[in-house]
Amino acid sequence: MDGPATGPKRADAEQRDERNADDVFEHPDPVVRHQGAGQRERGGGEQEAEDERAELHALILPPLRRPVALPSMNGDGTDDPGRLVAAGYDEAAERYAALEASEAPWPRAERLRDLLGRLPAGAHVLDAGCGNGVPALQLICERHRATGVEISKTQAALARRNAPQARVIHASLADVAFPDGTFAAITAFYVMDHMPRERHGELFRRFAEWLRPEGSLLFTVEPYDEPGDVREWQGVPMFFSQFDPAATLRLVEEAGLFVLSHDVHVQLEGGRPVEFLWVLAQKG
Ligand SMILES: C[S@@+](CC[C@H](N)C(=O)[O-])C[C@H]1O[C@@H](n2cnc3c(N)ncnc32)[C@H](O)[C@@H]1O
Repeated sequence: MDGPATGPKRADAEQRDERNADDVFEHPDPVVRHQGAGQRERGGGEQEAEDERAELHALILPPLRRPVALPSMNGDGTDDPGRLVAAGYDEAAERYAALEASEAPWPRAERLRDLLGRLPAGAHVLDAGCGNGVPALQLICERHRATGVEISKTQAALARRNAPQARVIHASLADVAFPDGTFAAITAFYVMDHMPRERHGELFRRFAEWLRPEGSLLFTVEPYDEPGDVREWQGVPMFFSQFDPAATLRLVEEAGLFVLSHDVHVQLEGGRPVEFLWVLAQKG
């Protein structure tokens, strides 16, 4: 399992911090929540907030991501990372599920409950990249209608078992299509980073089409500028790609969605702090 960061991992993290030093996203009203021992909330004076952020950044490491040498993304000369990502989650599904500790829950359940609480009973919600269905599909099914899309066969099978009332589609988000205005809300937790960032704008546009008027999109993406890389993650090669927060927010707005809120939140993955940009947007 993940040990303290030393050697190449540490160097990798430092290089990445340096590369992104100017890109670090600052929320206009920052509340950096670090779910460490005992979970604390931080705020306060500007200098104090800056010191805390610097301290936090010293702690944040990309989670066990070392470059992996591959002849091509799929070993067959094709570059679409879909198959590699699916195979990775097929193998690492159990290890991924174990990364969230019950004493330091990730924020998605709380934020999803918030969103669902504003929807009428029975509203149709899409969870894009639904993983094993826990907790999102299960929470949606309590009072609403759920559809999940999941590229990994293993994750899709687990999702069907964990949330039997949900409709789970085993496919890539790049390939599915729904009629315009199908969903009252769309969620996409920790999935955008596994798709080439050149396709993020297109995916936001499709999300916007699939949403009803005034429908909501709630998603996360890592807040680093990463053109696209295959790295070792949870013992498997995994693809990561995303824009910095400002560029991501621009793409959301260009897709015709209005950004209602955004913030960077730190969560613990297997005890290691990792940052995600959280965005809540609405169709006009
Ligand atoms: C980090 S997990 C997140 C799972 C779940 N959303 C959660 O909150 O735990 C990312 C999931 O997205 C799936 N995924 C990655 N790329 C995808 C794609 N192009 N289409 C559909 N699912 C995808 C992966 O197989 C994996 O189950």
